[in-house]
Amino acid sequence: MTHRIAVIPGDGIGNEVMPEGLRALEAAASRFGIDLALEHFDFACCDYYEKHGQMMPDDWFDQLKDFDAIFYGAVGWPATVPDHVSLWGSLLQFRRQFDQYINLRPCKLLPGIKSPLADRKPGDIDFYVVRENTEGEYSSVGGKMFEGTEREVVIQETVMTRYGTDRVLKYAFDLAASRPRKKLTSATKSNGIAITMPWWDERVVAMSGHYPEVSVDKFHIDILTANFVMHPDWFDVVVASNLFGDILSDLGPACTGTIGVAPSANINPEGRFPSLFEPVHGSAPDIAGKGIANPIGQIWSGAMMLEHLGHKEAADAIVEAFESVLSEGDTALMTQDVRGTGTTESLGRAIARRIATC
Ligand code: NAD
Ligand code: IPM
Ligand code: MN
Repeated sequence: MTHRIAVIPGDGIGNEVMPEGLRALEAAASRFGIDLALEHFDFACCDYYEKHGQMMPDDWFDQLKDFDAIFYGAVGWPATVPDHVSLWGSLLQFRRQFDQYINLRPCKLLPGIKSPLADRKPGDIDFYVVRENTEGEYSSVGGKMFEGTEREVVIQETVMTRYGTDRVLKYAFDLAASRPRKKLTSATKSNGIAITMPWWDERVVAMSGHYPEVSVDKFHIDILTANFVMHPDWFDVVVASNLFGDILSDLGPACTGTIGVAPSANINPEGRFPSLFEPVHGSAPDIAGKGIANPIGQIWSGAMMLEHLGHKEAADAIVEAFESVLSEGDTALMTQDVRGTGTTESLGRAIARRIATC
């Protein structure tokens, strides 16, 4: 069976980490006899937008809807296109229109990488952020009034639905129930945000009734960020609204030494639409063009994609390969964010070689 994959490298370092993501995928595909048909799309600020004044063609949905998955780099080039225009013109459309309501973001301290937190070692940080990915604070409900005057007003509503909240909570509880520690933490802010957040807490309590084996706790988002830094070992599965999940899924990887290694899966669990796999990081204009971006976030996202497509063994081989290359710690191969002197390509090639042989 052939898996059709839409490949969208995007902007900036998206174009540098994507070739390494594909190199790893191809190494795994050839070792495990997986048939991948890749098709490339130029939906980016510095590409399609430059030519057409919009991020994607009007029929993007029909062009992409029958793919088995989307492999995505990062989009954004604020020097020429405002970020809300580029992101609402692409990535956020995929999440919404393809109903990718789960954003699954593993956060793991990898061997050979030093945590900025004192004395933390692999095993101390190993949890998932499950981020609600289609509603919440990322809403298009709102508007501006009296623009340009002293009476200017801007409003943007948070939209939470019972359907949308319960389905992400169910996914998070199922994930927690499947893990040895069986622990779920809910991110909330029910002291200050007094309508949506106490309601979110109620939905967590209601869902927990179906999972007596899962222990549940909750923290207000402010102290939760502090606890990520002070006690990252407390966490197993952390479920959060769209914005809180966004923030936690940069902070978590920062605690593991670099956001460059963090992957994500934007999943439509029912498989009605393609799911999308991308690193957590963005297009990093500050280092774009230098060939020094860490490719592991992209490579690990490729592993998550293979697992989603039913190839767990191949996915595990990719993770094993980058963990073994990292643990050897050859600084000539490593990128600068993990204290190396190598390049995106040197690290990517070393990992692909290891996938082929380990
Ligand atoms: P960013 O993630 O691009 O960069 C933040 C910092 O982390 C930068 O200093 C960067 O050099 C570093 N960094 C990021 N990835 C790295 C890697 N693989 N290796 C080493 N260092 C890495 O976030 P930002 O600066 O807030 O955003 C830049 C652009 O990317 C904006 O246009 C933003 O909207 C966009 N963005 C896109 C996505 C996406 O497409 N999924 C995600 C986040 C940000
Ligand atoms: C992410 C990114 C996006 C988000 C941006 C680029 C819109 O930060 O995937 O985490 O906020 O979801
Ligand atoms: Mn983010």
